[in-house]
Amino acid sequence: MSDKSSSNAMWGGRFAAGPDAIMEAINASIGFDRRLAKQDIDGSRAHAAMLAAQGIITDNDASAIREGLLTVLSEIESDTFPWRVELEDIHMNVEARLKEIVGEPAGRLHTGRSRNDQVAVDFRLWVRDQCDAADGALKALIEALIGQAEEGADWVMPGFTHLQVAQPVTWGHHMMAYVEMFARDRARFADARARMNESPLGAAALAGTSFPLDRQMTAEALGFDRPMANSLDAVAARDFALEFLGAASICAMHLSRLAEELVIWSSAQFRFVAMSDRWSTGSSIMPQKRNPDAAELLRAKIGRIFGANVALMTIMKGLPLTYSKDMQEDKEQTFDAADSLMLGLAAMTGMVADMKGRPEDLRVAAAMGFSTATDLADWLVRELGLPFRDAHHVTGSLVAMAEENGCDLPELSLVQMQSVHAGITGAIFDVLGVDNSVASRTSYGGTAPVNVRAQIARWKKDLS
Ligand code: ARG
Repeated sequence: MSDKSSSNAMWGGRFAAGPDAIMEAINASIGFDRRLAKQDIDGSRAHAAMLAAQGIITDNDASAIREGLLTVLSEIESDTFPWRVELEDIHMNVEARLKEIVGEPAGRLHTGRSRNDQVAVDFRLWVRDQCDAADGALKALIEALIGQAEEGADWVMPGFTHLQVAQPVTWGHHMMAYVEMFARDRARFADARARMNESPLGAAALAGTSFPLDRQMTAEALGFDRPMANSLDAVAARDFALEFLGAASICAMHLSRLAEELVIWSSAQFRFVAMSDRWSTGSSIMPQKRNPDAAELLRAKIGRIFGANVALMTIMKGLPLTYSKDMQEDKEQTFDAADSLMLGLAAMTGMVADMKGRPEDLRVAAAMGFSTATDLADWLVRELGLPFRDAHHVTGSLVAMAEENGCDLPELSLVQMQSVHAGITGAIFDVLGVDNSVASRTSYGGTAPVNVRAQIARWKKDLS
């Protein structure tokens, strides 16, 4: 590959020979950055219109460029575009094809522009779209969770700490806990979107340009709030993608916790929930099996999102200003993370919407493990005036007694209870039931069904 004819058409003036084949393989990004085609063409259209408005190119050239770009876009959308790996990336593929279609005016499009601000604008637009997509997908998931909460606002289930039965809670309360988490995720994407919504276009290679560009105009045309104020920052910054990946990672972590609960809950040992056929698979050998594969895969796919976050942090760490080719590695990671996130959100929404809680099993489980021991201790404080620490001690003795007798707390007789503390009366049995336990938790943010219904109403209002 040493004849001059194979050197790159875009910078052949300086180069006598084309690249080594391996150089081409490591350098080319067209295999993945073709995903930015729409954004690239939008950016070019905004740039060309501005160049004409500023008298930098003629209106005739601008309209030839605009028509040509629309043709390029339709070729890409109809899968007839002649992709060429020797043209490295999406920017040069589009421009070279534009030249074939409209001729000379194509050569004027890159006036006052560089691939450095071009890729920065394309990628920002793409990531901004992903923030919007994540927002919509999270809203759907939140609605599915609220649906579950409404159905089982007063279903009693065990609440866990250390995965040991702690206190009874309500199914609705548990679902609404995830609503809170996913709502914060939405806010994180919205926050990232607001901060990234500035236009790098017009920063050119790094220093700005001597052409009288109207950066406000291109920013507005592309839906940005304003042009970025510093040209060096505009081409060097990738924190917008990192904020997206950060928000995606936290959201993915939340998804993985819920996925893990679904895996546990759908097991024969728990039986808290029946996953629908649509989200389960069978076993090729064990006829009884019904595996929560979607939840498991979701739990695992989260790793790709965390991985992308760490990868891009590592790519950017220590890079001197401004652009370095290292930054081309930002895209595949982000694409994969965004795809995994969207798939995960869609799968989780489907699973949550379709799953059936099992109120009877939840109830039985809620009463196991002396889950109302705290209610008993609270009763001793309230009714007998014991200091909480003493009440805790008395209750501990009663739990030990029940354990020895192989029974639950409500199955101890009053006489047995009074042998531990003489002041105990029959009224204590009222607080040992799981329904009374959850109904009594009316402190703000507590698990009482009345609270859950109030939160459901608040969120529904919020979402509409
Ligand atoms: N394909 C490149 C990227 O993704 C575009 C920018 C290239 N700029 C350059 N000076 N080589 O980062």
